[in-house]
Amino acid sequence: MQAVSTGQTLAAPIPAQTAYLNGEFLPLDQARVPVLDRGFIFGDGVYEVIPVYDRAPFRLEEHLRRLKRSLAAIALTNPHDDAGWSALIDTLIAHHPWPDQSVYLHVTRGVAPRNHAFPEGVKPTVFMMSGALRLPSEAERTMGVSALSLPDFRWLRCDIKSIALLGNCLLRQAAVEAGCKEAILFRDGWLTEGAASNIFVVSHGVLLAPPADHLILPGITYELTIELARTHGLPCEVRPVSEAETRAADEIWLSSSTNEVLAITRLDGKPVGGGMPGPVWQQMAQWVAASTRAQRGRGR
Ligand code: PDD
Repeated sequence: MQAVSTGQTLAAPIPAQTAYLNGEFLPLDQARVPVLDRGFIFGDGVYEVIPVYDRAPFRLEEHLRRLKRSLAAIALTNPHDDAGWSALIDTLIAHHPWPDQSVYLHVTRGVAPRNHAFPEGVKPTVFMMSGALRLPSEAERTMGVSALSLPDFRWLRCDIKSIALLGNCLLRQAAVEAGCKEAILFRDGWLTEGAASNIFVVSHGVLLAPPADHLILPGITYELTIELARTHGLPCEVRPVSEAETRAADEIWLSSSTNEVLAITRLDGKPVGGGMPGPVWQQMAQWVAASTRAQRGRGR
C-alpha cells in the first residue's frame, strides 16, 4: 500500500542539523522512529543535554555519570561505555558549524508491542542531535528574568532525567503565559526546582540550595555552582529551603546547562531583593565564566 501524507506541516522548519540514530548519522529531518517506540508510546526513556564550548563538551564525565544513574534507575542497559559516547558526541559536534553547541542525547527502551511491562530482548533506541548553544541574552544577564511560583505537581522521581516531561512542560507553559522565563516550584511549602532548571536562594550572604534528593534533578550546573561556592569560600548550605525563605530572599538564581547561572529578579510580579541581579550572583557568574573559559582553552 502506498503511504498517505497526513498533510501535517511543522510549525517551525527543522534546521539543517545532523542527527545520530541507532548507529547512523543522517539529516535531522530524515531521522525516523517507529510509532511503537516506547519513548513515543510511554515516554519510557532518559536523556541528557550537554553544553559544548569551543567544540569540547563541558563536564562530559559528570553528564555521562548522571546518564548512567538515570539508565540504572529505569533498568535500562547503557548502550555505550564512556569512550563510545565520547566518540559519538565528538563526531556529532564535528558535523555542525558552531563552536558552542548544545548536544541532546536520548535513550529509550526501544520498539515493542504496547504493554506497560518491559519487553525482553529489545534493543534500546539511541538518538542524538546538536544545535547552537543559545545562552541567555545580554538583556537577561543585565536585568535578570521573571519567574512565576507554582505548586510542584510532578512525580516523586524527579532525580531521573526522564524524557516524560509533561509535568515540566505544563509548568513552563504556565510561566511563559504569565510573561515569565521560568516557574519556581514548591512542594508542601518547600522549594524544589524550576520547570527545567535548579533554583538557588541567597539569604543574608549565604547561598542556599535544596538537597539533591528524589524531588529534584541533580543538575550538573547545580553541582558546579556548589563546587565553586565551596572553592571560593562563599558560605553555602545545602538543606531544605522553605517557601517563606525563598520569598524573603535577597537573590534568587536559576541554573542549567543552557542558561549557566541566571538571576531571577521578579517573582510573581514582585522584585526579588533590589530587583536587579545581586552582588553574589555577579560573583558567581564570573566564577562560572572562568570555568567555561578554562574549558575553551582545552577546545579541540
Ligand atoms: N534541563 N532541573 C530540571 C527539571 C531540568 O530539566 C534541568 C535541565 C535542570 C538543570 O540541569 P543541568 O544543570 O544539568 O542542565 C534541573 C535541560 C537543560 C533541558 O531539559 O533542556
